[in-house]
Amino acid sequence: MTFIRDKIAHVRHGLAFFASVGLVFGLAANADPLSSNNGMYPKPDDKTVFGETYNGVYNVANLAYPDTLPEQDWVWDGGPLNQSNAEDYMWALKRHIEPTMRTLVEDAQNWDAVEANWYNIVWRGAGDSPEKGREVIMNTNTGQIVPSDTWSKPFQPTTKFVQNYGVIYFNPRAAFMLGEVWKDVYKPNFSKQRYPEGSIVVKVEAATIQPNQWPWDDPAVGVNSVLEGAAEWQVFRPTTEDQKRRQNDPNHKLINKVQTVYPFQLAIRVKDTVASPDTGWVFMGFVFDARIKGDSPWDKFVPAGMMWGNDPEFARDPNGLPDGETLQETWVNFENAPPFVADTLGWGGRMAAPMDVAVRHEVVLPDGTWYRKAERFRASSCLSCHGSAQFPFAANLYPSPNIVFPPDGNTFPMYQPGSEKWAEWFQNRKGFEAQTPNSAVALDYDLTSTIAFGIWAGSTGQDAFALEALHGH
Ligand code: HEC
Repeated sequence: MTFIRDKIAHVRHGLAFFASVGLVFGLAANADPLSSNNGMYPKPDDKTVFGETYNGVYNVANLAYPDTLPEQDWVWDGGPLNQSNAEDYMWALKRHIEPTMRTLVEDAQNWDAVEANWYNIVWRGAGDSPEKGREVIMNTNTGQIVPSDTWSKPFQPTTKFVQNYGVIYFNPRAAFMLGEVWKDVYKPNFSKQRYPEGSIVVKVEAATIQPNQWPWDDPAVGVNSVLEGAAEWQVFRPTTEDQKRRQNDPNHKLINKVQTVYPFQLAIRVKDTVASPDTGWVFMGFVFDARIKGDSPWDKFVPAGMMWGNDPEFARDPNGLPDGETLQETWVNFENAPPFVADTLGWGGRMAAPMDVAVRHEVVLPDGTWYRKAERFRASSCLSCHGSAQFPFAANLYPSPNIVFPPDGNTFPMYQPGSEKWAEWFQNRKGFEAQTPNSAVALDYDLTSTIAFGIWAGSTGQDAFALEALHGH
């Protein structure tokens, strides 16, 4: 990994000199795999480059993966997960990551990924457009743009759309595997893509809308906004409206702005074959709950729910859950999480958290059903979507015959829920079993790796396998 280390040192010291080369030369076609970000830096005291200034710290990517497998420090001794021990698992895991992650969430100016021992993935920094790659301030990736009617009243945002920016961090054991896969960044070793036990991947997602745009319109609750008391981050990205215009007009120029965004969701996955013997993975979501008293935004993250399997026994049911049955591999915190968590659950109530885009709009089914406008179609789940992590990108993330997926709100054909094809997205596979075994290799439920491999392919002349970006959550 010496090559990577040298490169990082260079990035750290060379921060101020990157300016906007990415914009001019179009780095995407030939991306630098070890870029920390897309190189579009707002200057502290010069508005001439981007019309914006920024005086804080830049969160630089940590790509210096460990050379040897670090000791396993997350060990669960509560046996396989079920409805009664799931919540304990979530609180224990939150406590486990708290010493470092609290700083990231609450005090981003003092966050240092190297010191905190969390890592980023290669190939995802560069980008030739302001919404691509990782941005320079918080090192976030761009999330999907979601229509606000995804949420019902009294939690409906007053804006038309909500978006999020997320940072993705791998713990040392997961990062060791990344180092094995990407030992030669130009020749990845797919056979190493198996996360060791105790791997943890954390995604912290910050909402783009402002607290006064996300009311919690219920006097009994005692707060005025879903985001009341949330921490603040800054990111350097075009506004959501700007990106929406670009979707409709490819000639529209995107302009970066220093935006204040609010950490709202933690999406975490843990390789844990004790807790989750079938799939090997535990997927969980925490959400910000403004009702929790106190000054600490971190303390206000509560379990939304978790899943450790797709309940494939119900995958051929048209609703994903026959009447009178309950899901065995999803636990949702209906009792204590903010009630809006129910709006964004996945198919048949399988786990998905508010920013995961498991709910889609304008979905068209083979039997002619068309979910119009604000009608919700629950299309996915954490493990359903992540189960399609393969290279090349041979199956959509969503249960659809199409290989690409449109922005939410545009027409999206999908398979008939409960059909044989549909059910392929709701199985319990091991991480090394591909969803489409004849045409792709499995990536152990890692979608950010799917994107990294797609960008690597596009940058190394394998255009047929290229993938620019998949806006996840
Ligand atoms: C509809 C698809 C979809 C759903 C549902 C979904 N994810 Fe993801 N997730 C993605 C995509 C795409 C990425 C990669 C985003 C990127 O790299 O910019 C991702 C990234 C992540 C990451 C970081 C890296 C990785 O790929 O593992 C974690 C952790 C994660 N998701 C956890 C979850 C959890 C937990 C849930 C459910 C509570 C969930 N996801 C639901 C699509 C989804």
